[in-house]
Amino acid sequence: MQHVLLTGGAGYIGSHAAAALLQAGYSITILDNLHNSSRSVRPAIEALGGRPVDWIEADIRDESALDRLLAQTPVDAVIHFAGLKAVGESVAHPLRYYDNNVSGTLTLCQAMARAGIQTLIFSSSATVYDLGQKMPLREESALGPSHPYGWSKFMVEQILLDLYRSDPTWRIALLRYFNPVGAHPSGRIGERPNGIPNNLMPHICEVARGRLPYLTVHGNDYPTRDGTGIRDYLHVMDLVEGHLAALRYLTTSAAPLVLNLGTGQGTSVLEMVNVFSEVTNRSVPVRVGPRRPGDQAACWADPGRARTLINWQARYDTAAMCRDAWCWASREETG
Ligand code: NAD
Ligand code: UFG
Repeated sequence: MQHVLLTGGAGYIGSHAAAALLQAGYSITILDNLHNSSRSVRPAIEALGGRPVDWIEADIRDESALDRLLAQTPVDAVIHFAGLKAVGESVAHPLRYYDNNVSGTLTLCQAMARAGIQTLIFSSSATVYDLGQKMPLREESALGPSHPYGWSKFMVEQILLDLYRSDPTWRIALLRYFNPVGAHPSGRIGERPNGIPNNLMPHICEVARGRLPYLTVHGNDYPTRDGTGIRDYLHVMDLVEGHLAALRYLTTSAAPLVLNLGTGQGTSVLEMVNVFSEVTNRSVPVRVGPRRPGDQAACWADPGRARTLINWQARYDTAAMCRDAWCWASREETG
């Protein structure tokens, strides 16, 4: 059995990965500063995973906390989810993003090196690509982030590839997520955005719950089939399966793994709203507003490399994404 450290393991994606790793027989430690998460997720992870987790409330920039943890715990691999992820906030506070996401990763890697731990899976993002180019995006498509959040992911990718080049005994995976949505099918864990959500699916759920009167569609004059933005939404359960597959790959293969994790299918805003309404039987009123600054018309992945290298392919469709997102959101509503 392997022991995996999950930085940011109390967050949206990390909590789903934690439950999946426990279920797959791994033992895990979650390290999180609870900046964007809460302790209340721990019992749910333990119930879903069927086993206890080691739980450390600390910051990845805290060198001595990392050294203590890595000296005490026989960690075999690290999945590094911890990070700030709000694009607008990154534009307003770039230093906060470079400090947390870039310096934080440097501190983590230095502590791993001191402890002799060399297997690292990093949460990267489709936002590292130049999103103005032809779709679908392949791993060799041109890179070119357009905001500090994206640059922080780009810089960490570069740092990790340089680290591998300097010492090929490191085992590195850079996983570029497209648009993760949905929740654990049990409805016990899910995404808990702070305040009014920016992203589409949490926003749809807030409208369906009656907390917001309507969904503002950010533009319907894009050159897409219905004029609204197209994205590659993938179920968070598929996303975490991609991490398990990457972890298995790294135990036998040396070269750094750079992979898109997406379905390869684009869905428009109006298509997602319609699927949500059909699956949940809730009405989601929409109003068309102006384009959101910085948005692209369309973005979707070519996930072929993940299929070839780690035998991973998304299985859940948009109906399952909507059903599980709503199961979580409506359960939260009733407590
Ligand atoms: P999240 O905010 O729910 O989870 C991140 C977790 O990291 C939170 O629990 C937060 O408290 C913790 N954290 C942040 N800074 C920390 C620090 N300095 N020390 C310790 N803990 C810290 O976000 P998520 O959606 O689960 O995203 C996980 C990772 O995936 C992030 O790195 C994010 O950038 C990346 N990602 C997310 C998406 C998405 O749409 N959700 C898309 C692409 C990439
Ligand atoms: N949208 C609406 N109304 C809303 C929210 C979103 O119409 O209330 C539309 C957007 O305009 C876009 C689509 O829904 O067309 C998806 O928007 P999201 O905010 O859910 O996702 P984005 O693809 O814009 O952003 C995501 C991540 C970012 C990351 C970016 C690029 O949230 O962190 O992908 O990878 F930078």
